[in-house]
Amino acid sequence: MKYLGLELDNPIIVASSPLTGSVERIARLAEAGAGAVVLKSVFEEQIGNQTAAGQNYYDSPEAADYLYEYVGEEYLDSHLDLIRGARREVGIPVIASINCIGAGTWIDFARRIEDAGADALQLNIALLPTSADKTATETERHYLDIIAAVTENVSLPVTVKLGARFTNIINLCREIYYRGAKGVTLFNRFYEPDIETDTMTFVASDSLSEHSELRNALRWIAMTSAQVDALDIAAATGVHTGDDVVKALLAGARAVEVCTAIYRDGVEVIGAMKRDLSAWMAAHSFDSTDEFRGRLNAKSIDIADREAFERVQYMKFFPR
Ligand SMILES: Cc1cc2nc3c(=O)[nH]c(=O)nc-3n(C[C@H](O)[C@H](O)[C@H](O)COP(=O)(O)O)c2cc1C
Repeated sequence: MKYLGLELDNPIIVASSPLTGSVERIARLAEAGAGAVVLKSVFEEQIGNQTAAGQNYYDSPEAADYLYEYVGEEYLDSHLDLIRGARREVGIPVIASINCIGAGTWIDFARRIEDAGADALQLNIALLPTSADKTATETERHYLDIIAAVTENVSLPVTVKLGARFTNIINLCREIYYRGAKGVTLFNRFYEPDIETDTMTFVASDSLSEHSELRNALRWIAMTSAQVDALDIAAATGVHTGDDVVKALLAGARAVEVCTAIYRDGVEVIGAMKRDLSAWMAAHSFDSTDEFRGRLNAKSIDIADREAFERVQYMKFFPR
């Protein structure tokens, strides 16, 4: 199957995380049957060697890693070594990832990622608006400027991993496509703070997803894939089982990105997902994922079914 123009053996991609942080781990994931891997993100501020003080990066799980380590040129070289090592040791596509804050000097680093042999580049953009003065339009323009700056400067396929909360993700995805990206990942999952009432302090909540979180991605993939069909969509957050892979593909995703399931159940879960996907395809007489991908997206189903994922209020199901 094709994803971002790359040939993948299957649609199960290991998501950006420490799971893909070394050549040994990547080799183990490839052996377990992963279709591709996304490397742990490099942070723009790591590249600039700046401090995190005064910035708003705390919304993503990986930000915490940054806060505990000081990283410079040596870190960048080790990341490029990881790309080269992974490309040498495994046959599956290796997708690099940069956590972007601005369309800045690190574009040079995107070129070095390309030179190191990455098959594609995922931009992990997580801009948390914290000021009432900043409009949604300004924030989205910032996203689009970053994407355009990258796609103008590299020739490898670029995909964008987005958080789940935008006013109109379908429109944003179309604009992202117009800026030259080949795909989007819907959605990234950010750290969410919780409050401990005994100590009256903010604490970090669970960094692993719940199974039910997939449903929000299914809605937006079903809508986006119907209207921006040239964009390759990967489903992320809450893909825990083979059945979830089937759901994501039916909604219109080309691939899925998996992290929590591997942390919880080990690399063997990849094989189990593949087996379940194959068994489901055989039971429905499908030879390839292309035959059923998007079958339940907003273009393919009738109005009555479409209501199920467009409905946001309870009135119909709980009339009294
Ligand atoms: C410990 C940890 C580290 C992560 N680091 C990154 C990262 O560096 N870049 C990124 O884009 N996503 C990162 N993520 C998010 C995952 O790639 C994934 O999108 C998220 O966990 C939702 O998928 P899941 O439900 O399969 O876990 C991280 C997640 C965890 C749990």
